[in-house]
Amino acid sequence: MRVVSTNDNPIAIAADALVLAKFSDVEWDDDSRAIDQAVGESLTRLVEYERLKGSVGELTTLPAPTGVQAKQIVVAGLGERAKCGATEIRRAFGAAAKSIASKACPRVVVVAPLLDNDQCESALVAMQVGCVGQDLHRAEKRLNAFDEIAWRGGDDAALYRAAILGQAVNLTRELVNEPANIVYPASFADRANQVATECGMEIEIWDQAKLEEEKCGSLLAVSRGSSQPPRLVILRWNGGEPGDAPLALVGKGVTFDSGGLSLKPSEGMKTMKCDMAGAATVLGAMSAISRLKSPTNVVAVMGLVENMVSGDSYKLGDVLTARSGKTIEVLNTDAEGRLVLADALNVVQDDKPSRIIDLATLTGACLVALGTEVAGLMANDDDWRQEVQDTAEACGEAAWPLPMFAAFGEQIKSQVADIKNIGEGRWGGSITAAKFLEEFVDDDIPWTHIDIAGPAFFDSAKPWIDAGGAGSFVRTLARIAKA
Ligand code: BES
Ligand code: MN
Ligand code: ZN
Repeated sequence: MRVVSTNDNPIAIAADALVLAKFSDVEWDDDSRAIDQAVGESLTRLVEYERLKGSVGELTTLPAPTGVQAKQIVVAGLGERAKCGATEIRRAFGAAAKSIASKACPRVVVVAPLLDNDQCESALVAMQVGCVGQDLHRAEKRLNAFDEIAWRGGDDAALYRAAILGQAVNLTRELVNEPANIVYPASFADRANQVATECGMEIEIWDQAKLEEEKCGSLLAVSRGSSQPPRLVILRWNGGEPGDAPLALVGKGVTFDSGGLSLKPSEGMKTMKCDMAGAATVLGAMSAISRLKSPTNVVAVMGLVENMVSGDSYKLGDVLTARSGKTIEVLNTDAEGRLVLADALNVVQDDKPSRIIDLATLTGACLVALGTEVAGLMANDDDWRQEVQDTAEACGEAAWPLPMFAAFGEQIKSQVADIKNIGEGRWGGSITAAKFLEEFVDDDIPWTHIDIAGPAFFDSAKPWIDAGGAGSFVRTLARIAKA
């Protein structure tokens, strides 16, 4: 999908669809007015009869008469101008794109002169995301990705950024949407290798033998029940000054989570191909960070395993020795993500990072606490957590803090090892999980954990995005590395 800029007269632009935008409290811009004239003032009439209000997510589709080169005109409502942030923009333009893409429309033109550069960026990302579906393996697609989106009047730098970010979000979504028989640790690592080559990043791939040599006993234990061998992928983007401490990104990459011997019921297992979304988010973000030549050093670690059941599976009561040297009593094999992250977090600290963010579909409890669209933020440093939250908000990616009170840490004390992998009961499960992770992070390094169990994967379609992988937080990570 190409993103291009156009300065043609909107009436003369040949396209399968022409998208306009309407704030509920702002008059039509000159371009829209010219189009209104060309369609016999139909837009004015629709507003008059309150069929077109410009509320967020409202879509109005008109067939274009002869004289207008586009085949249809779609007006996306944006709501009140003062309240129109990245979330509203995504809803509006994602919905427009998704609606248009229900039929093949190779060329789409957007005329939205009232949007600033930031809003253009969000709108273009939303359109690239909205027209791509989860139906990777369906002969007849439900959504037909556009070949080209032309933006009238956009700033070239904003369009360029948006094109790269849109592709990055869709890369993450594709990896999440591919089933576990296609995306498993080795194939994910191959894909990361391909991305690294295309984007000019350094890459290291640790296989089973290397992971053993590195004493990644926690990650390896999770992997043991699977016939798919594990991988750990390290990516480095050296966009900053040589020697500057890097930003570190860490992702949970459980390519399938059956729960292990603490087996999940079918209902809870059927979407567990999504359990590598943390790693996919990190890979998507790194592709954008490198292609945008972000002026920051960034190191990323993805821990890739499959959590399965076999005669070799790790067992309840097992005591593992993590790479850090800490011993872990396993009391639930379905609390595997934190075991993978324990070693991945340890590996990334070899690079002496200045700040760390990890992303993981870590706990069902986070869905209970915050619902399906909001990620949980937990940190060892309030300022860093706030910075992550503010950046996420600017990207329209919802995240909210959960408290890291010391009392939650009491719950993961073990009688037989340094720590155990679950709390005392289910309450506060997202926080006890984060407290476990905190044990594997140096106190002096600001660290934020983002539990994306909700927003990484949608069970059902939204007006602005298909069901399946959502690519949430790719933009946030890319923006953090921009500064
Ligand atoms: N991958 C799951 C968490 C999850 C649940 C992600 C639903 C997305 C949607 C994780 O590995 C898990 O199984 N967590 C357990 C932890 C428990 C055993 C302490 C959970 O949430 O039930
Ligand atoms: Mn699990
Ligand atoms: Zn899991």
